[in-house]
Amino acid sequence: MDHWNGRRPAGRIAYVNGRYVPHGEAGVHVEDRGLQLGDAVYEVCRIENGHMLDLEEHLDRLERSLREIEMAMPMRREALKLVMAETVRRNHVRDGLLYLQVTRGALKRDHPIPEHPPKPTLIMTARAMDEAALVRRHIDGVAVLTCPDRRWGRCDIKTTQLLANLLAKTAARRAGALEAWMIDDDGFVTEGASTNAWIVDGEGRVVTRDLSHAILPGVTRRVILEAAAAAQIPVVERRFTLAEALAAREAFLSSATGAAIPVVSIDGKKIGTGSPGPLTRRIAELYAKRSRERLA
Ligand code: PDD
Repeated sequence: MDHWNGRRPAGRIAYVNGRYVPHGEAGVHVEDRGLQLGDAVYEVCRIENGHMLDLEEHLDRLERSLREIEMAMPMRREALKLVMAETVRRNHVRDGLLYLQVTRGALKRDHPIPEHPPKPTLIMTARAMDEAALVRRHIDGVAVLTCPDRRWGRCDIKTTQLLANLLAKTAARRAGALEAWMIDDDGFVTEGASTNAWIVDGEGRVVTRDLSHAILPGVTRRVILEAAAAAQIPVVERRFTLAEALAAREAFLSSATGAAIPVVSIDGKKIGTGSPGPLTRRIAELYAKRSRERLA
């Protein structure tokens, strides 16, 4: 069910290639390369109090993802920001998320990048989130299920090709867990299906995997690393094994849609005391404080 923060607008509006259209009528061409080939990248931004959090960082990453697949930004950054803000406004979203996707456009189906690419497709939607459920997750913590990382070799690109992620997440949900942590061939945790993975080790250091092609460079991950360092919390960027995670004092997840969500069990085994840890809470508070300052 959709949540509208108490204000139900006439209907949701989607942005599709220069037009704001009713959500139910919004669509792309049947030969859009995003639809046919997964030739597309995306971003998800958190909306708080009607404003997008970490907007520049999300646009930097969008630009990078596009560059990695030999595409340019679909419009100038300032124009893109205006469209994003307008999409949020037209959907009356106070707290929620904005989804943005850029595809290589519509063309007769053929795999290689076309020599003369069509106009890219740009779509956006915005919706409110279930804020009460988010608060509950912070209070209660969540369960994680592990599974092998079956993704491709460029997980640093935020592509819409998410089959391995969604299969992992489905297995997790069916096992009563919120998120799946994917394990690489050497036994190290890469990341969650839609979140970055963190632990607090025996020495009280906050640990998250270092950046490489194996994980998405999460915007929230970066903000947490900066905020933790500024607060003199020891942080280390290195890979960690499942065994280390199971023996960790604390564990948590990060993403734009829920910064520092405590993980209280992995594969049914308690992490730490089995309830949200103090350092995770501190980091969630630091993140929230920084967001408030940014939006002020
Ligand atoms: N997911 N890792 C993966 C695989 C992700 O898909 C995401 C984001 C993250 C966290 O990145 P960030 O902090 O920039 O949100 C890490 C979004 C929210 C999604 O797919 O809905």
